[in-house]
Amino acid sequence: MTKTDQQVTPAQQLFDLTGEVALVTGASSGLGRRFAEVLAAHGAKVVAAARRTDRLSELAAANPGIFPLALDVTATDSIDPALEAAERLAGPLTLLVNNAGIANGGRIVDTPVEQWEAVQRTNVDSVWHMARAFAQRLIARKAPGSIINIASLVAEKVGVSSASYAISKAAVLHMTKAQSIEWARHGIRVNAICPGYIHSEMTDAYLASPAGQEMIKRIPQRRVGDPSDLDGSLLLLASRRASGFMTGAAIAVDGGQALS
Ligand SMILES: NC(=O)c1ccc[n+]([C@@H]2O[C@H](COP(=O)([O-])OP(=O)(O)OC[C@H]3O[C@@H](n4cnc5c(N)ncnc54)[C@H](OP(=O)(O)O)[C@@H]3O)[C@@H](O)[C@H]2O)c1
Repeated sequence: MTKTDQQVTPAQQLFDLTGEVALVTGASSGLGRRFAEVLAAHGAKVVAAARRTDRLSELAAANPGIFPLALDVTATDSIDPALEAAERLAGPLTLLVNNAGIANGGRIVDTPVEQWEAVQRTNVDSVWHMARAFAQRLIARKAPGSIINIASLVAEKVGVSSASYAISKAAVLHMTKAQSIEWARHGIRVNAICPGYIHSEMTDAYLASPAGQEMIKRIPQRRVGDPSDLDGSLLLLASRRASGFMTGAAIAVDGGQALS
């Protein structure tokens, strides 16, 4: 039997993110906006990044502790300057949430090459560039940190007509594992969240369609998620006290859909 004399930490302290400085990409809507709000509500300083800066300014105005930052994650030359700008706004970064993403449907044979490339650039290349630039900064200052990559249910479960997106999210999941192994020695944890269908601008039109309504009947919990359904997994992975021994993990938050 293993004996531990560690004191039990109350949940409030376990998930207290005071001192953490987070950068959330794609924070102008949906999941990313919610991630920024939840991290800030638990004491982190949060740099909220996206292209629609009007929305980021509104978010920052309503939430002390959130700082807006214009960033197109596909403009790879602007990533290092953006991280520098983020640190000028909020201090040395300790947490990166790679959330920005786009989706497009369609069968492979019908997908224009430009659409395929846009999905891979936004969903895969940007995660590689953002994480690499973030890790380089932390390694240089010998500081620990954490990366949370937003993958998807379809990273493992491919459906017809979502190939470009599913392939991109499978790459995010594999990248999470590769990054976690490479950076564990530097104290940088890398984990993923795999959401199922969650209400957002990305999904609402599909969810309201007849095909979407049929799909919902096949989810074991018979419902779609709300961005708030991800609060717990986000806080778990963000808190080094709560998940300091977790790296390379992927948490499914999908109402059981991966099993159906
Ligand atoms: N909703 C779901 O059911 C679901 C399920 C699994 C995974 N996900 C993933 O969760 C993430 C968020 O999706 P969501 O549902 O919240 O969709 P959303 O409401 O459409 O939000 C997407 C966000 O990504 C940002 N973005 C897109 N391209 C960008 C770029 N080039 N540079 C910077 N930001 C960019 C958008 O901001 P701007 O347009 O302002 O730049 C927006 O804030 C995505 O990675 C998505 O694949 C969603």
